[in-house]
Amino acid sequence: MVFNLKKNKTSEEIQLDPDKMPNHVAIIMDGNGRWAKKRHLPRIAGHKTGMDTVKTVTMAANDLGIKVLTLYAFSTENWKRPETEVNYLMSLPGTFFDKFVPELIEKNVKVNVMGYIDQLPNETKIAVRKAIEDTKNNTGMILNFALNYGGRAEIVTAMQEIAADATKGKIDVADITDKTIDQYLMTANLAPYNDPELLIRTSGEERISNFLLWQIAYSELVFTDTLWPDFSEDALKDAIFNYQKRDRRFGGIKE
Ligand code: FPP
Repeated sequence: MVFNLKKNKTSEEIQLDPDKMPNHVAIIMDGNGRWAKKRHLPRIAGHKTGMDTVKTVTMAANDLGIKVLTLYAFSTENWKRPETEVNYLMSLPGTFFDKFVPELIEKNVKVNVMGYIDQLPNETKIAVRKAIEDTKNNTGMILNFALNYGGRAEIVTAMQEIAADATKGKIDVADITDKTIDQYLMTANLAPYNDPELLIRTSGEERISNFLLWQIAYSELVFTDTLWPDFSEDALKDAIFNYQKRDRRFGGIKE
């Protein structure tokens, strides 16, 4: 079976191979500020439209049968932004969940949040915990927000916990493998889909920005010039189409 997909501007048909769908797609949602600037709007207008794109792309990913969608919503470095912008970004999870949790429940989508949640403002923390609680019995796609997340900090925390458990005699240093590290990272509860097969970054920037450093060891990277607020269902399908054309060898050779 082949999905018949979009009619793009040139009316070309893109056909995705359902046997080669990525299980876990991660997205660095970049370009909200530039989208707003192009329209002579304040930056927060870009974030607001970006929030609606989160909904569109979540539903599209769910329809495509993706198991985990991880979205980089706020990094541990984003606190450096002006206070008004940080405050606005911190209000978005609450706005998003208030508006869309009923639909997420209807679609059997489960919300997960990874990051240093304890350091978030109280209202954000409450909104996040409520969304997780409200969707905890859902068994479909996991919508995983990276919120106050940083890849290096995540690895440091994991190393501290591994060292503490080794000191207590809970684990033997000689038994530490990459699987042990998987189990101590913030993606542990996404098992067996801890690592994204596909990482997308929007807005034309081609860097990782401290996102999922351990987990993307073998991910396929797709960079698109589209600014996040303009990203769409078709853009997601295009990125997956691109991914499906890649020859993934994991360090081996082609048979
Ligand atoms: C990067 O664009 C974007 C962010 C730091 C925030 C991303 C947040 C959203 C898309 C909305 C999140 C929604 C929920 C539900 C949590 P930028 O501001 O750096 O853009 P620029 O590089 O063009 O300035």
